[in-house]
Amino acid sequence: MRHYTFLDKLCLGLDQAVRTLMDNPKTSGLSYPGKSVDEQALTATQRKHSAGLMRINHAGEICAQALYHGQGVVSRSREVQEKMHQAAIEEGDHLAWCKQRLDELGSHVSYLNPLWYAGSFCIGMAAGMIGDKWSLGFVAETESQVVAHLKNHLQNLPANDARSYTILQRMETDEAKHRDEAIALGAKVLPDFMRKMMAITSKVMVKTAYWM
Ligand SMILES: [Fe+2]
Ligand SMILES: [Fe+2]
Repeated sequence: MRHYTFLDKLCLGLDQAVRTLMDNPKTSGLSYPGKSVDEQALTATQRKHSAGLMRINHAGEICAQALYHGQGVVSRSREVQEKMHQAAIEEGDHLAWCKQRLDELGSHVSYLNPLWYAGSFCIGMAAGMIGDKWSLGFVAETESQVVAHLKNHLQNLPANDARSYTILQRMETDEAKHRDEAIALGAKVLPDFMRKMMAITSKVMVKTAYWM
């Protein structure tokens, strides 16, 4: 693995941010899970609701990318840096799938994505500066909250939106893997107040992104 100077990292960071916000993230090239499922007819209301939920998930994936990018810039160990990088690529797959689904539903991504990205990048960097074990603790907590959130969306999707369902199911499996990997690398358990703050912050994002 080559050594990056701070300037290298800054340029890479900018490139990653622009790619993420232009919906051109680095991906693993995995094929779109929705492809395996036939599109079923949705009423206008169902379509609007599905689009709202998928817009939340798309914004969530923007945040996930930014968190991993932010932590990757400052994390100390190569092993953690590599894991953050790999996880960010898998979040890139999720981002691309959510965008494709939003396109299929004839809807748009959240207008506030640049804001979500900037905020999450700073949070990721702050977590990373405290130290790798805390940073991993932050990842583990984020991913476990995301898993709970996805379970909720899986129940809330219109029953006949099997395509979105398949995508979210696949994402849930990946997020659980990210959580477990962070724990295996020695993640610390975050204090209660931090977990609550994270839950409140994501609630604000969820409520806003559904509509805009
Ligand atoms: Fe994800
Ligand atoms: Fe994840």
